[in-house]
Amino acid sequence: MSPRILGIETSCDETAAAVVEDGAAVLSSVVASQMDTHGKYGGVVPELASREHLRAIVPVVREALEGSGTKLEDLAAIAVTVGPGLVGSLLVGLTYAKSLCFARGLPLIAVNHIEGHIQAAVMEARRTGKPVEFPALALVVSGGHTHLFEVREGFHYRLLGKTRDDAAGEAFDKVAKLLGFAYPGGPVIDGLAPHGDPAAVRFTFVKMKGNALDFSFSGLKTAVLRWVESHDMESEIEARRALRRENPKPAAEQWLAATPQRTLDLLASFQRAVITELLTRAAAAAEGMGARTLIVSGGVACNTGLRAAAQAANLPYPARFPSPGLSTDNAAMIAAAAFPKLARREFASLDIAAQANLTLA
Ligand code: KG4
Ligand code: ZN
Repeated sequence: MSPRILGIETSCDETAAAVVEDGAAVLSSVVASQMDTHGKYGGVVPELASREHLRAIVPVVREALEGSGTKLEDLAAIAVTVGPGLVGSLLVGLTYAKSLCFARGLPLIAVNHIEGHIQAAVMEARRTGKPVEFPALALVVSGGHTHLFEVREGFHYRLLGKTRDDAAGEAFDKVAKLLGFAYPGGPVIDGLAPHGDPAAVRFTFVKMKGNALDFSFSGLKTAVLRWVESHDMESEIEARRALRRENPKPAAEQWLAATPQRTLDLLASFQRAVITELLTRAAAAAEGMGARTLIVSGGVACNTGLRAAAQAANLPYPARFPSPGLSTDNAAMIAAAAFPKLARREFASLDIAAQANLTLA
């Protein structure tokens, strides 16, 4: 049998487990989302996240094993996210992975969550027969990260730029919350933006002092706040909050019906500004390092506007986005990232600690 790795991911608000074979085939991928728990607070509540992970971890791992027809003794290793993330959340997955390894005499592989996002794209490209060519530029964009990494053959990483304030996904979530939409805001704004005019509101592109490849989103968020304050929007925002109270997950048409054209224009303009910020700096970084592939991964990589803009930009190298299920947090990416480490027999000791602020490079 080709080697199989069980991946476990609990760094934030998804309890996930997956079995991947040979670094390419995702035999199962189970994600238990806690959105319903955190949605009403407009963001992730760490204490609730740990509790939900504890509740979900055993059934989620069991489902991933059963769904792939894998027994623990068939595994070559167990891979788990050690950081970065919420420490109480990380501990649940890490402790469970350690105990399974201890009980079954399996090697433990520690994976950095950010590397997992990058490896999701690498794995999927390999599977589709168009492997990533190196050096590659990876743009990791999620609720917690907005980073540019140079990725060299054999998986050597170099940090080229990162956000100085909010992550791109966080900007989507905060703007959505400010306007009365539900958490997470990215998918809601993504669904509404095509109904608005992206040229309606002009946001200025921030010139960075120091590293020109660093990102900034807080100015954009403040600009949206100022716009909202000066456009008498209280009653429509309150109407959307009421809609959310009635139904924690309103359908796209319900949001659309509760959003006047002027606000749709604002959302489209905001989304375009985020996309411009991301793609402009990514393209500059890719050019600077002579990238042969652009990898975009993390929850914000699901954004349809971002995907379309990357295609329309006619970049001189292919842009690879993992399919949406592999872009947001999942455990298949953690198992995928473990295969090169399995080949190098890079195993973790069973006393390894969770590292909330772990960096990749
Ligand atoms: O990678 P992920 O699942 O978790 C983190 O590691 O943070 O990313 C979640 C983030 C949230 O901020 C969410 O709003 C954003 O990804 N997101 C999107 C879309 N889908 C998820 N942002 C923009 N457009 C989307 N379609
Ligand atoms: Zn993530």
